[in-house]
Amino acid sequence: MALSGKVAIITGSSSGIGAGIAVAFAKEGAKLSLTGRNQKNLEEVVKECKKAGCQDVLINLGDIAKDAFRKTLVEATMKKFGKIDILVNNAGICDLSPLISTTKEQYDRMMAVNVEAPLFLTKLVAPHLIKTKGNVVNTSSCATSMIIPNSGAYIMTKAAIDTFTRYLAQELSAHGVRVNSINPGYVPTNVMSKVFTKEVSEQMDKAMTKATPIGRTGSPEDMGHAVVFLVSDKAGFITGESVRVDGGLSMTTPALG
Ligand SMILES: NC(=O)c1ccc[n+]([C@@H]2O[C@H](COP(=O)([O-])OP(=O)(O)OC[C@H]3O[C@@H](n4cnc5c(N)ncnc54)[C@H](OP(=O)(O)O)[C@@H]3O)[C@@H](O)[C@H]2O)c1
Repeated sequence: MALSGKVAIITGSSSGIGAGIAVAFAKEGAKLSLTGRNQKNLEEVVKECKKAGCQDVLINLGDIAKDAFRKTLVEATMKKFGKIDILVNNAGICDLSPLISTTKEQYDRMMAVNVEAPLFLTKLVAPHLIKTKGNVVNTSSCATSMIIPNSGAYIMTKAAIDTFTRYLAQELSAHGVRVNSINPGYVPTNVMSKVFTKEVSEQMDKAMTKATPIGRTGSPEDMGHAVVFLVSDKAGFITGESVRVDGGLSMTTPALG
């Protein structure tokens, strides 16, 4: 198993892509520190991880945008497992609107969860990753390689993550720590249902299936496989990369209406 005995913190692992990464890690023998705010969802993910063979799962509930919670998460992980090998900064929110109606509150919230949280959580975890010569994977978006309508402030947060990924890879490579991002294409998850009505979500699923050259939308499992590869020794010469896992979506210009 590629991640046997490795300890991984995965933020935003109570649903969607983070849950997919957690299950993929569980299958590869990792020990998991999972986090989100929705206890019921997180407990479901724990069940899936246990079914996949991982019995060492810690959960911490809290707002990743809060400094105090980030400290609690790292301390609790160290207390239970005694080391950290992998940090996956995956928690994120997507609040789409045209610039003309984007509010300061929307912008501040997306910056806090999508940019500040990964930056300062990584700062807390980095000393532990240096000891284990570990890995960071950030969840960015293929939207940084294309223009998606109404997503200006959101794309800015993900562009910041691509730059952070390259920057941090440079800073930490001397310590043997690799840093990469996955840049997902369209993956039907709660991130969309929080923004769109059920009807609009269904329309989006159809439109994005058509727009994606590979002929389907992505799945949390697709993202999990990519992250397992990036943190494994097989990717030992890859750092500072933003890896599009998008079925070719960013090669197209979808007409989303
Ligand atoms: N789905 C896509 O098509 C797509 C494409 C490109 C990039 N992404 C990125 O993929 C990542 C995961 O999104 P997803 O699609 O899997 O959506 P999701 O199912 O809504 O998952 C988002 C996760 O982030 C957590 N989260 C959000 N705000 C938080 C906060 N303040 N504190 C703690 N946890 C918080 C959520 O936890 P709770 O619900 O428990 O609060 C949940 O576990 C995000 O960074 C998103 O931008 C998604």
